[in-house]
Amino acid sequence: MNFEFQKLSLSHAMTASVDAMVVLWPSQVQPDTQAVEPVSRLLAQAIAHGDFELKAGALLSLYSQPGMAARHVVVVCSADNQPGQIRSAMQAAWVALKAGKIKRLGLHVVGEASVQGLQMALSSLADASYNYTTTLSKPKARMLKQVLVSATHDRAELRQAVAQAQALVAGVELAKEWANRPANHATPTHLAETAKSIASGRAFKCEVLGPKEVAKLGMGAFMAVAQGAAEPLRFIVMRYNGAAASQAPVVLVGKGITFDTGGISMKPAAEMDEMKYDMGGAASVLGVFKALGLLKPAINVIGLIPATENMPDGLAVKPGDVVTSMSGQTIEILNTDAEGRLVLCDALTYAERFKPQAVIDIATLTGACVIALGAVRTGLFSSDDALAMQLQHAGEASGDTCWRMPLDDAYAEGLKSRFADVANVAGRAAGSVTAAKFLQRFTKSFAWAHLDIAGTAWRSGAAKGATGRPVGLLLQYLLTAAQATPTAKSHGKSKAAVKSGVKSKVKARTAGKA
Ligand code: BES
Ligand code: MN
Ligand code: ZN
Repeated sequence: MNFEFQKLSLSHAMTASVDAMVVLWPSQVQPDTQAVEPVSRLLAQAIAHGDFELKAGALLSLYSQPGMAARHVVVVCSADNQPGQIRSAMQAAWVALKAGKIKRLGLHVVGEASVQGLQMALSSLADASYNYTTTLSKPKARMLKQVLVSATHDRAELRQAVAQAQALVAGVELAKEWANRPANHATPTHLAETAKSIASGRAFKCEVLGPKEVAKLGMGAFMAVAQGAAEPLRFIVMRYNGAAASQAPVVLVGKGITFDTGGISMKPAAEMDEMKYDMGGAASVLGVFKALGLLKPAINVIGLIPATENMPDGLAVKPGDVVTSMSGQTIEILNTDAEGRLVLCDALTYAERFKPQAVIDIATLTGACVIALGAVRTGLFSSDDALAMQLQHAGEASGDTCWRMPLDDAYAEGLKSRFADVANVAGRAAGSVTAAKFLQRFTKSFAWAHLDIAGTAWRSGAAKGATGRPVGLLLQYLLTAAQATPTAKSHGKSKAAVKSGVKSKVKARTAGKA
């Protein structure tokens, strides 16, 4: 999808050649009964007759009116322009428009447009219009190709917000795509190929390790999960170098279980299909790298993805088996369904070699986190208050929110083992916290945060499918971190040049692509 920004008055926006138009109207802006421009006049009339109120979710659908270039115009109230209100308004507008064959959509923001508001409006629109097609023989492809965004004033930051939204949407949709793909179409090998194709530009490097290399590294915990699978494991290492080599990178670690049967501690049959999204963390890392390639921010980022299936088999790891992790710590695997922490702990140990400024792992780690926080906020666990705060802010700013959970040492009691340094599960209580306490043992040498996305990466029910979260949160965090650190890559580029490069590259690279 391609986004384009223009500074236009409402009446000019109405003459733009688009198939349909969404007008986002906040509560505090009063429409004008005397206006020549039809939207404002018709809205004012509807209000005057008591047929319409400017409150959250209110929607007025106008069709083939003189003065409107678009066949269909939907005016939708964005209330106080809170992120959630903009999201619901855009969803409602899309539902109202859906019958039409819209290739080119206009989106006009009435009143004071904000960076966050524009990003929220565009990402909500992309989300509402997204359609999975890969494994359908007669897919209904998405028609929407272009969005012309307009506002009555122009600021560099609004244009940049639109360019950023475009990269964000590309990243989110890549993450959705891979999390939605069935496990037989999304193997560890497929993920590695995808990583290679994303990380093919000049600022990137990508290295893929197989079973031999992983054995050589001593990743005994990761290998234990993979030993029951026929599909070979992959350990994916992606590097994005946007800043000077001297600058410590941020490391993102994505859980890449391409299917989680539970292994010998097998899961019940009901809804087991959904365990194809157990690589949602990995998908979000791929999505972030996609967006980094489009935006080229001045920061160094490493992406690590331990990818394997978790299968029951004659060779599969058994409850009670003790394995040695890359860190040297031995682990008693009491439950083979607690496999995420096993693949992650070795990836976290591997992250040490980059001397990172921060390490963030992203994982569909526990059903307990779904119980704790539902599908609204991602679980955030961190041993570093500054990092936790940055991630919380990034969540609020992007609308891809998280909630900080505790890490008191008392929660680690249940992980004690008589037969190894640590067990891979504790009791049922506080399951998302004990999982995080397990991971924390492998993060002593850097600032670390863990995002449990079991509840937020996937929507259940009728409209089931991947959400692309937390690509928005991570990208926001990285872009903010890139601005906070002074030195852009020593190409002799000033920061302003790096920034303005953002726009032109996004346009050039994504023009014409859906
Ligand atoms: N992938 C699951 C967690 C999960 C559950 C994600 C539901 C999304 C929805 C993870 O590997 C798992 O099975 N965790 C177990 C841990 C338990 C055995 C301690 C769980 O949550 O039940
Ligand atoms: Mn599991
Ligand atoms: Zn799992």
